Amino acid sequence: MEKFRFLTAGESHGKCLTAIIEGLPSGLEIDIDFINSELSRRQQGYGRGERMKIENDTVEITSGVRFGKTLGSPVTLVVKNRDFESWQKIMSVAPEDITDDRAFSTYRPGHADYAGSVKYNQTDLRNVLERSSARKTAVEVAVGAVAKLLLKELGIAGSSQVTQIGSACCPAEFKDEVEVMRGKGDTVGGKFVVTYKNLPVGLGSYVHWDRGIDGKLAQAVMSIPAVKVVEIGTNPLGYQGSNYHDEIFAKDGEITRKTNNAGGVEGGMTNGQDLVVSGVMKPIPTMKAPLKTVDANTKEETEAHFERSDVCAVEACSVVAEARVAWVLADEILLKYGGDSIEELKKNFNN
Ligand SMILES: Cc1cc2nc3c(=O)[nH]c(=O)nc-3n(C[C@H](O)[C@H](O)[C@H](O)COP(=O)(O)O)c2cc1C
Repeated sequence: MEKFRFLTAGESHGKCLTAIIEGLPSGLEIDIDFINSELSRRQQGYGRGERMKIENDTVEITSGVRFGKTLGSPVTLVVKNRDFESWQKIMSVAPEDITDDRAFSTYRPGHADYAGSVKYNQTDLRNVLERSSARKTAVEVAVGAVAKLLLKELGIAGSSQVTQIGSACCPAEFKDEVEVMRGKGDTVGGKFVVTYKNLPVGLGSYVHWDRGIDGKLAQAVMSIPAVKVVEIGTNPLGYQGSNYHDEIFAKDGEITRKTNNAGGVEGGMTNGQDLVVSGVMKPIPTMKAPLKTVDANTKEETEAHFERSDVCAVEACSVVAEARVAWVLADEILLKYGGDSIEELKKNFNN
């Protein structure tokens, strides 16, 4: 069940990334500076590659907003790829421009190259790389920023934090960990945590397997490229029931808790505590010191294709996760409270 939905389109080195959002109530103020600041957050973090020096992501809105407010019609967001200037011929849509410039045939382990080329019957692996690349997360962050603007109207705010890079758990050591890996031509992953505060009780449901908010959050975060683990609240491995579950207390007639191991979700619903979702990102699969692989054309063993790449992108990944979680929450809020205008939504919410 979805009230709020979006589709994105665009290749990594194509002209632009596009998103069409449907289901936004009318009258929502769209702060473009805020969307751009979220895009800029995604571009930062220690360990990013050369590409981020070329791109300076900003959003253009081409439908659904007039004089700064949504109309209730579909909203289209466009994020241009500045790098397209150097790739116009290579990414051309015209058949007469066909070229094997920047074509490659050595599968990159850990990427979509092998399975994607079999599935879509491609010999030039560029045809797989271009859409499977995490570049598309730029426009997803713009979509998430719009969801955050809606949440903000209801007093709900989110943040994220990197909690581990490789084996380093202390922020003072993160840069060193990245530098050691860079020096070896290697890469590193890590862990991040997303927190949303001030949520109402009862977003999501236990009545069907596909209505639990935990399942929706897991799908939203797990489907970010390179995320391999999603946790809601504290990882329960090794705990006993007596020290894991959050006991319930009453203070002045209000329900309170002293702990939040459940991460704000019980029975597939928000329980009014802070929502806490963590993710683990694997090490970036493109490496300067290349992995062994096979050439798709010759079927001979060789080394993987290397293309400009990040050494570590956990911080960027946490910003993407924050955006994805915002989307799930905004969708659940619209499902529960409804409203075709922001005024109607607020009225329903405050009731
Ligand atoms: C923000 C972000 C940036 C990324 N940057 C790179 C990169 O520069 N090089 C790379 O090889 N993979 C990068 N990745 C990871 C790959 O996109 C991902 O591992 C690959 O598409 C395969 O998907 P999977 O790991 O989910 O199986 C990035 C992922 C994210 C979320």
